[in-house]
Amino acid sequence: MTKSLKSLVILLAAALSVAAFAKTEEQREAIIERIKPHGSVCVAGDTSCGAMTAVATSSGGVRSGEAVYNAACMACHSTGAGGAPKLGDVVAWTNRISKGREVLHDSGLNGVAGTGMIARGGCMNCADEEIIAAVDYMVDSSQ
Ligand code: HEC
Repeated sequence: MTKSLKSLVILLAAALSVAAFAKTEEQREAIIERIKPHGSVCVAGDTSCGAMTAVATSSGGVRSGEAVYNAACMACHSTGAGGAPKLGDVVAWTNRISKGREVLHDSGLNGVAGTGMIARGGCMNCADEEIIAAVDYMVDSSQ
């Protein structure tokens, strides 16, 4: 009697754990279903799927200056953190712009020694042309 009761308990426990597994499997599939449409409709120019994805897919691999700015430069250049010249701040940019674009491109690529402006603004996966485009975007928006 006790032996069969024991095996019943074991059976019950086994059945319960199978049920629990089935539930999580079901939930997992539901989650996959829920996230699937987002992945499949996230195309270039679609802002609903977040800035980073839009950045990654815009204009055939090369990101626009604005996209790079938003992803890698904005943190400092929209707030003025550490003395960063703010985007659109004509006064802050006038003297810098008078140095010439090439100097500013160089600052974007190599940073400004001894300041918070680190090489590439810290964007290590940004191509040279993307950094240059971001500098141009900042300059064009700040004069
Ligand atoms: C961690 C903060 C930070 C980030 C991120 C950052 N910058 Fe800067 N940036 C600065 C600071 C601070 C300065 C001012 C340096 C100085 O004193 O001349 C600056 C200055 C500049 C200048 C002007 C340099 C000059 O020669 O006058 C350019 C151009 C520039 N940043 C481009 C960029 C670009 C492009 C990005 C993104 C790819 C970027 N920055 C990201 C902090 C930052």
